[in-house]
Amino acid sequence: MDQHQTPLVDALAAVERRPVTGFGAPGHSAGKAMPTGMRRLLGKRVFQADVLTPKGLDDRTEGLLALQRAHELAADAWSADFCRFVTGGSTQSLHTILAAVARPGDTILIAANAHKAERNYALAAGLDLVPLPAAVDTEWDIEHGPTPATVAAALEAHPAAKAVLVVSPSYYGVSLDIAALAAVAHAHGVPLLVDAAWGGAFAFSPRLPADALAQGADIAVYSLHKTMGALAQGSAILSRGDRVDRQRLWQAYEMFETTSPSIPILATLDATRHDHATGGEALWDRVLDLAASLRTKLTKIHGLRIFDRTNLPGDMDLDASTVLIDISAWGVSGYAVDDWLYKHHRISVGLSDGRHLLVILSLGSTNSDVRKLVRALRDLANRLAADPAILPAVGPLPAIASLDVEMAIDPSAALFGPVEQVGYEAAAGRIAAETIAPAPPGVPRLVPGQRISERHVRWLVANRDAGAFMLDPIDPTERTIRVVVEAAAAPVGTGTLARR
Ligand SMILES: Cc1ncc(COP(=O)(O)O)c(C=O)c1O
Repeated sequence: MDQHQTPLVDALAAVERRPVTGFGAPGHSAGKAMPTGMRRLLGKRVFQADVLTPKGLDDRTEGLLALQRAHELAADAWSADFCRFVTGGSTQSLHTILAAVARPGDTILIAANAHKAERNYALAAGLDLVPLPAAVDTEWDIEHGPTPATVAAALEAHPAAKAVLVVSPSYYGVSLDIAALAAVAHAHGVPLLVDAAWGGAFAFSPRLPADALAQGADIAVYSLHKTMGALAQGSAILSRGDRVDRQRLWQAYEMFETTSPSIPILATLDATRHDHATGGEALWDRVLDLAASLRTKLTKIHGLRIFDRTNLPGDMDLDASTVLIDISAWGVSGYAVDDWLYKHHRISVGLSDGRHLLVILSLGSTNSDVRKLVRALRDLANRLAADPAILPAVGPLPAIASLDVEMAIDPSAALFGPVEQVGYEAAAGRIAAETIAPAPPGVPRLVPGQRISERHVRWLVANRDAGAFMLDPIDPTERTIRVVVEAAAAPVGTGTLARR
C-alpha cells in the first residue's frame, strides 16, 4: 500500500475547508462555545478539529471509509493483518484484546510485571489470572519479564489457559525473546499477546529491538502516544494470523471503543503511522544518536551508573533510547532527585523510584533537552558533594525480588466482599482488597485477593516514606490499605496460586 496516504488527516483537512453546521455533539460546535479560558490556552483550532465521525470526518454511514482505510494502512505498515486505532490509551486496547480471548472464569497467563491495565481487567471480568513470575535483575532491582521456560512450565500446569500475555519492552526498555515465547505458546495451542505499549516504533528502525509481531506475537498493543508523536491516549491494536479470531477481536473493539472518538487523536495516529512507515528509520537514528551522547555524558557524572546492553541476559535486547540511571551511590532516593530536578530545573523524568531515574528519549527530544538534563544532574552532583544534607538520606530500600505474589482468596471475593481499612504497618498477614501500583511504572505490587506479607509492608512503608506515589489506593494519604474482613472470604480459585 502507498504509505504516503493519510485518510484521516485528509478527512480532517476537508472538514476544515468546508465546515459542517452541526446540530448534535460535540456541543461546543466547532468552538462556538468554548469553556472559559480555553480560547487563550488551546485556541479555536483544537475545537474545530474536534468533530465527530460519522458526519464530520465521514458521512452518516462512514461511506468514505476514512477510518477503515487508516486501519488498513496501519496494518500494512506493521506487516499485520488487522488494526484498530484506540482513543482510550493502551489501557483500553489491553482490555479489548483480553475480552477477545477469554470469558469470565477462563484461565489466562499474564506476566507478573504487567501494567495494572491487564490486572484490573482480569479482576473486573472475572478471569482466572495466573501471574507468570518475571525474571528479576537483582543487581539493578528491575523486572524484565517471564522466560520461555517459565511460560512453558505455567502452560504445563494450566493446560486450559486461553492465552499468554507478556510486556515487551518493559518500562525500562528491555525487550524479551518474543520468538521463543511465541514458540512456547504456539506449541501449547494458545496465542501470545504482547503489551508493547513502549515498542510501537520498533518495526521501523533496525537499531531498535525487533518488533513483537515480526517475532511471532499474535497481537501487539502499541501506545503511539508514548514515544512516537501521537496525542495522549492514542493507541493501536495490531494482530497477525488466525490464532485470535479476528471477528471476535473486532467485536471486542466495538464493545470498548467510545462512540465519540477524538478526531484529533485519530488524526495523529494516522499521521504517526505515515511518518514512521515513510521515514521512521531516520527519525529514530536521530533519537538513538542523541541517547548515545546522553549515555556518554551521564557516565562522566560522579556516582551515576547507566544500564546498558552488557547488563542484559543473553536472550533480551535493549531499546537504547530509554536510559535507566542508578543514583543510589548518591545516598538519596530517586524520588527526591526527581522532585529536585523538577523544582530547580523544571525537568520531568520518565520515572523515579527508590534508586533509579528513567530518562525516556522520544521523537520530540532535542539536543538542548539533553544538555539541560546533563547540566542539572551535574549541578545536583556538585551540590550533594558540597552538602549531602540538601536532600534526605536514604539507605538501601527493600528489593522488588523480595515481594511474593501469593494469592489467598478469589480476587473478586476480595474486591466485592466485606472490607476494612488498616494502617500499612498493621497489614501483614491480611488479604488485600485493592490494587496498589506505585506509578510509574504502574505495576501492581498488591492486588485484591493477595496475601500481604511482612515484606510487602516493609517495601510499601519504605517506598512511601522515601516519596513513592501510589496510584490507586482508596486512602490518598497512603497511611491505610483496604483489606478483606476474613471470616467472610471465599476459597481461592485453582489458577491463582502461582508464585513468583
Ligand atoms: C507497559 C504498559 N502497558 C500499558 C500501559 C497503559 O498505557 P496507556 O497509558 O496508553 O493507557 C502503560 C502505561 O504506562 C505501560 O507502561
